[in-house]
Parts: sequence; structure tokens; C-alpha cells
Amino acid sequence: MQLLFSARLLSLSYVLAFLISSTHSWPIWWPPWKGHHGHGGPGSDPDDDFQERNFNTISSIYNLTVYPNQLPIIGGGGAGVPPGLFSKDVVGRVDPVGSFDGFEDSIEYFFALAPLPQGNGAFSAITSYKITEFSSACAEVAASVVYLFCSVVNPGSPDHGKALAPLKQVAFWRFDDKGEVLKYDAWIPNLNKWVESTEAAAITNPQFQAQSIQVICAVTQMRCTGANTQWSSIGECVAGLSQKPYGNYDAAWGDNVVCRSIHLVLTQVRPDIHCAHVGPSGGGKCVGTGGDWFADEALYKDPLGETFTCKK
Ligand SMILES: *[C@@H]1O[C@H](CO)[C@@H](O)[C@H](O)[C@H]1NC(C)=O
Repeated sequence: MQLLFSARLLSLSYVLAFLISSTHSWPIWWPPWKGHHGHGGPGSDPDDDFQERNFNTISSIYNLTVYPNQLPIIGGGGAGVPPGLFSKDVVGRVDPVGSFDGFEDSIEYFFALAPLPQGNGAFSAITSYKITEFSSACAEVAASVVYLFCSVVNPGSPDHGKALAPLKQVAFWRFDDKGEVLKYDAWIPNLNKWVESTEAAAITNPQFQAQSIQVICAVTQMRCTGANTQWSSIGECVAGLSQKPYGNYDAAWGDNVVCRSIHLVLTQVRPDIHCAHVGPSGGGKCVGTGGDWFADEALYKDPLGETFTCKK
């Protein structure tokens, strides 16, 4: 989504140079149950131990969406994620983007998609976050709601620091016995509206659609070369994508343009994997059946209803 107007596409080195001069507001938080207990500290109550551990894991995960913390992940994929957050066998879904199987897949969709200010019309990036709702009744399961606050990151511009539309994510988490995330079920309820405000355009606007197809095709042809080539030319790509439904970001897994605009971001991380997703076939991701809100048993390999429920 960050690349719709990617005339601003930049090399990582430029991005790094850019951010050295910028300032960032880091989130300030304190686990909500602290201060409510008059006794002891962490460790004095076994319930606190796993609640605090799970809260901290979730908080560290969202912290990696805060610009520029996602840059090492855009640059290096899974190697850029600190250990201890995700199991190597992690699976989950982020509706309305799709379902993800395995560590690389999961971390790329969690973090590499966090907006880069240079990649969207509003110079929007996530600049702080707040976990607004959190509950963990057992060590294996937690539920959370996070607000990912966005603002203009454009040092020198009068708008720098101006608050923009935030993203919201509702999630259930399952942890393994080391406290690493093994399964997750997350939902962004306002993605389409957020993209529209970030791009300062209506997704349904034909001019916006035509322009975004041009950009997607130009970037695809630049990144997907050699064995990863999808289209013989920008023109063939534009013709091909113009035949497909445009889609919208509240169902972003279909065989449509919107889906390709999301997966395009990841062609910079692993072109060998992600180029197929933006090509003619959708590569198993932009294929219309990618987003199944209800296929829990296939995804989590548990009987329906067990994955995110504490055992009695
Ligand atoms: C968030 O990330 C920043 C930069 O890496 C780090 O300094 C800070 O301690 C992190 N905060 C949390 C809550 O993880």
C-alpha cells in the first residue's frame, strides 16, 4: 500500500540517510496491571509473570511497525526481527490481507508492510502505538487491541509531525512454552479508509486506479526481472491489470489490483517469492481464495474454537 505513488521509491541507503536527520516520538507505555498491585513487583505473582511476558511480547512486535524500526526487516527479512518474538513455525492471518504460513511469511506481512513515509502521498508513517485493550487469562493465550498512530514524517516540511489517520488492529495470540508467538488471528477493521486518507484519494476514483496500475506495473518491471519476470512489458502489465477488478482494501486478498499493490511492497524483500503474487496469476496470494476468514482448522491445525481459548 505504501507504493501506490512510488515515484518516491527510494533505495534503502537513501532512506537510511533520510532518517538519521529525523526525529521520532517513541511510544511510552507501562504494563497496565503495574501499579494496581500494592505488593511486590514482577515475579511476586505468577499471574503477573505470564501477563507481563505476553504483554511485552505483543508490545515489542508492534514496536517494530513504528518507523524506522521496520527498515531492517524490509532490508533483511526475518533476519531483521529480534529473537524471542515469533516461533519459526508461526502461522496466522491478518485480515483483510491474508493468511500466512511460517516465519518469513508472517514477519514480512506484519512488518514490511508498515508504511514508509516516502512511499505514500501523505508522507505517513506509524510513529507511535498504544495497546488499548489487553487480556491474558493463561500463559498460552492473549487478546489485544492496538492503535498504530500515524503522522507526517517529512522533516523540513511545515506538516512534519502532523497527526494522520491511525490504524487499529484487533488480535488474538497463542504462545508456545517459550512465550514466542505460535499462532495469531489479527484484523485491521479500517484498512480501506486508512489507505484512502493516506493516499488522499478515493479508491474508487478511476484516475487514481489508472495511476496506481501504472505505478504497480513500473515497479513490477523494475523489481521482477530474470527468472522473476511476470510481464513482457509495462504495457502488457497495464493491459492485464486493467482487465482485473480493482478491489478494495477491506478484502485485499482477491485476484485484483489492490492485492497486488500490497504484495508489491514485498517484492523488495524477496523478489523470488513475491513477484509471482503481483503477476498475471496472483501466485497463490492474489487469487480470490486467499482470504478465508473462517478456515481456522486448515490454518491452525486445531479443532475449531480451541486455538485461542485457555484450557480449563
Ligand atoms: C521500541 O524500539 C525502540 C527502537 O529500537 C527501542 O529503543 C525501544 O526500547 C522499544 N520499546 C519497546 C516498548 O519495545
